[in-house]
Amino acid sequence: MADFDLIVIGAGPGGYVCAIRAAQLGLKVACVEGRETLGGTCLNVGCIPSKALLHATHSLHEAEHNFAKMGLNVAKPEVDWEAMLAYKDDTISGNTKGIEFLFKKNKVTWLKGWASIPESGKVTVGDETHSTKHIVIATGSEPTSLPGVEVDEEVVVTSTGALTLKSVPETMVVIGAGVIGLEMGSVYARLGTQVTVIEYLDEITPGMDAEVAKSFKRILGKQGMKFVMGAAVSKVTRSDKGAEVTYTARKKDTEHSVNADIVLVATGRKPFTEGLGLDALGIELEPRGQIKTNAQFATNIPGVYAIGDAIVGPMLAHKAEDEGMAVAEVVAGKHGHVNYGVIPSVIYTSPEVASVGQTEEQLKAEGRAYKVGKFSFMGNARAKAIFQAEGFVKLLADKETDRILGCHIIGPAAGDLIHEVCVAMEFGASAEDLALTCHAHPTYSEAVREAALACGDGPIHM
Ligand code: NAI
Repeated sequence: MADFDLIVIGAGPGGYVCAIRAAQLGLKVACVEGRETLGGTCLNVGCIPSKALLHATHSLHEAEHNFAKMGLNVAKPEVDWEAMLAYKDDTISGNTKGIEFLFKKNKVTWLKGWASIPESGKVTVGDETHSTKHIVIATGSEPTSLPGVEVDEEVVVTSTGALTLKSVPETMVVIGAGVIGLEMGSVYARLGTQVTVIEYLDEITPGMDAEVAKSFKRILGKQGMKFVMGAAVSKVTRSDKGAEVTYTARKKDTEHSVNADIVLVATGRKPFTEGLGLDALGIELEPRGQIKTNAQFATNIPGVYAIGDAIVGPMLAHKAEDEGMAVAEVVAGKHGHVNYGVIPSVIYTSPEVASVGQTEEQLKAEGRAYKVGKFSFMGNARAKAIFQAEGFVKLLADKETDRILGCHIIGPAAGDLIHEVCVAMEFGASAEDLALTCHAHPTYSEAVREAALACGDGPIHM
């Protein structure tokens, strides 16, 4: 008899969710994690700590810019960086301990250490080898390296080092205008750092609806962030005070350099599978290094599955969580499924940016006949009351059937608003279905309804 029905490798959002769901379905489950705490990149050095710092610095912005407008006269706020980092660390430990509690509650065994797979049905952790009927690899991802750039996590940092800087820098260069660069760039810009973002492409946040990306860049520019677009960073050299970043302006083919106290490298992430022994096991990989799986998350080795950032698809905690639940169902003999057409993505800046489904550019490329319903937060009473009327909701629907095809929001609480559209899309709803749904007043959600109305006879408040 095997020691376990399932051993999950990695306790990030993919792995821990998979372990809990499998235990709930009656399996005997262990989860291997080598970090001191559970929760993976997301809880320890990713989503959760960055959200704590985004919240703290957004509050600072409110105190500095909006309190007096509301008749709140307080002394100029002072930043106690050590205390802010301690608040961030408390947020992390509150969440990682929560997962430990959930493991105990669901009788999931935590095998502490780094795992390797000597053969199907066996997982080695330290000196011990455990037998198991199934294995799920949920080992996540790590930052990609950039040629000519050596990360030391002190001056030249990834998102991990950016969460523990010794002090608030005067200047920072962010390489890459993706999600990490803009979220962490926002944190430091609000703390008074002069942030310059250098991006290879001509637009920020590749893949985002172009109209939203354009508006987003303009708003971040107004907040003080500088952008150097169409520029490829080729080298970063440490100097006495910080580092020098060399880049080539792609169109003119000219070389430039800029100095900064801190350089944040945010040029993407790649699957983390080191030490698992995948080569010796004969696991097939995709051309870009992800583990190859079929629709049931099975690899080419029987009994070995993979999910999350280690396989293809968007590198998002919630995509990994959904795959974790689905693969647990598959292993338990049920039917796990993930609808990749309805995976929201959110950037937690202020304003937030959120999207789901297809972009206008994708619909054009497909030659699909579509209509656009747009509504500005300028027409939303609640957004105006909190000085966050910049931005809009853009709903895309099929021209003939009115079925919702995508939604792109920049504005207050966009990351929460998007889920109304996700549910609508899961039910195959039309824009009219949303438009006919009563929305409480005054809420930000009314902007979503107005965008749906704009797909039909028109919005009321615009
Ligand atoms: P990203 O893929 O979002 O953006 C990287 C950017 O770097 C791209 O715009 C790319 O063109 C640029 N770039 C690449 N090489 C360059 C060079 N040599 N010079 C200048 N620019 C260069 O990657 P990012 O921001 O590092 O995020 C990694 C992953 O983590 C993403 O998949 C992201 O979705 C995920 N993530 C998600 C979050 C969220 O959902 N809120 C938060 C943080 C990360």
